[in-house]
Amino acid sequence: MKHFVQSELLQSLPKQFFASLVDKVGKVIAQGHDVINLGQGNPDQPTPSHIVEALQKAVANPRYHKYSPFRGYSFFKEAVAAFYEREYGVKLDPEKEVAILFGGKAGLVEIPQCLLNPGDVVLVPDPGYPDYWSGVALARAEMAMMPLRAQNKFLPDYGELSKDVVEKAKLMFLNYPNNPTGAVATKEFFEETALFAAKHDICVVHDFAYGAIGFDGKKPISFLQAKGAKDVGIEIYTFSKTYNMAGWRVGFAVGNESVIEAINLLQDHLYVSLFGAIQEAAATALLSSQDCVKELVSLYESRRNTLVKALQQIGWDVTAPAGSFFAWLPVPNGWTSERFADFLLEKAHVVVAPGIGFGEHGEGYVRVGLLTSEERLEEAAQRVAKLGLFHAVKK
Ligand SMILES: Cc1ncc(COP(=O)(O)O)c(C=O)c1O
Repeated sequence: MKHFVQSELLQSLPKQFFASLVDKVGKVIAQGHDVINLGQGNPDQPTPSHIVEALQKAVANPRYHKYSPFRGYSFFKEAVAAFYEREYGVKLDPEKEVAILFGGKAGLVEIPQCLLNPGDVVLVPDPGYPDYWSGVALARAEMAMMPLRAQNKFLPDYGELSKDVVEKAKLMFLNYPNNPTGAVATKEFFEETALFAAKHDICVVHDFAYGAIGFDGKKPISFLQAKGAKDVGIEIYTFSKTYNMAGWRVGFAVGNESVIEAINLLQDHLYVSLFGAIQEAAATALLSSQDCVKELVSLYESRRNTLVKALQQIGWDVTAPAGSFFAWLPVPNGWTSERFADFLLEKAHVVVAPGIGFGEHGEGYVRVGLLTSEERLEEAAQRVAKLGLFHAVKK
C-alpha cells in the first residue's frame, strides 16, 4: 500500500507527551495490577439526568434533523447570555458576543488561526494545558512562555517578560482555575491583565474550563468581570466540567465582538454548528437549577480534603488547590517529575501526571486528579507511604 507523507504542518505539531504515559499505564494494567489512575482529567460522574432527559426529548424533534443554523440557534446563545448575566453580572449581546464551540478545545485550537500570521508570538502559561501549543503550531506562530511560579501564586509576572517578546506578542492564553496547578486568579490580576493587553495590543484568551470549580465557598471569577476585559479579549467556557458533559463536545466563547466574529467566520468554513438537540440540552443545563453544580463542587472539595489530609499524614508537604479538580504536588528532592511518576506507577501502581508534560516550569511537580472516590484516593496515599519516600507526621 502506498504511504502518503504527512504535510509539513502536521509534522510540525508538538509531540503528545502524555501518549507515552498512557502506553506505560496500559502495560502495568495488562500485567494484571490494580492501578489507581490519578493521571487523567476525565470527569468520573455522569451528566445530570435532567440534561440527559432534555437531550432525549430534543432528539425526537424533526426541527433538529435538518442542518442547524451555521452559527448556532439563537435560543442557545440567548441562554449563554442569560447564564453570564446571572452568574457573573456580565452583559453579552447573544448574536455578536457569543460563539458556539464543539467543546472548549476546538475554540482554543481555532483562535490562533483566527488572529495570527506565521511567525506571530503567543504568550503561553508554563506549566499549562498542552492544547494551547497545538493551536499555535497549526497557525505556524511562535510561543513565548510565561512561567507560573509558586511564589507568585501561579500567576504570570508580566514584568518578567522581555520588551521584545511583549512588543511582538499578539495573543495570550490564561487559564484560572488553573490546570495543572489548581490556582485561582484575583480580580486585581485580571484588571492588570486587561491594562497590559490594551497597552501592548494583545488579545487575551481566558480559558475558563474550571470556572464552576472553586473551593472554600469562593466562586472563581470570570475574566469578563474585570474592567476593560471585553475590549481586549474573550473567555472560553465548556460544559465538560461544570455539567460532566465531556463526551458531548459543547462549549462557547464570549467577549470581544471582533474575536467572536473571527471564530464564527472560521467555523462557517469548517463546520455546520452542533446538532440542535445538543444545543437545546445545553441551554437547559444553563437555564435550569444549578444544584447539580453545587453538589459536584462539594464532591470535589470533599475529595480534595481527604487527599490533602492523607498526603500530609504520610509526610508529603502538599498545598490544597483553591479550584479545578487537580492537586499540584511537589516531588521529593532529587527526583525529576518523570522519574517520580514512573516510580509510583511501577512500585505503587498509582498513576500521576509528571509536571514536565505541562512545560519546563512544571518540572518538580506531579498533577493528581480528584476524579476517583475518597477510598481510592486514601488507598493511593497508603501505597505511596509504603515506598518510604516520606516520613509520617507524628500526632
Ligand atoms: C485547561 C483546559 N482547557 C480546556 C479543556 C477542554 O475541554 P473541552 O474540550 O472538553 O471543552 C480542558 C480539558 O481537559 C482543560 O483542562
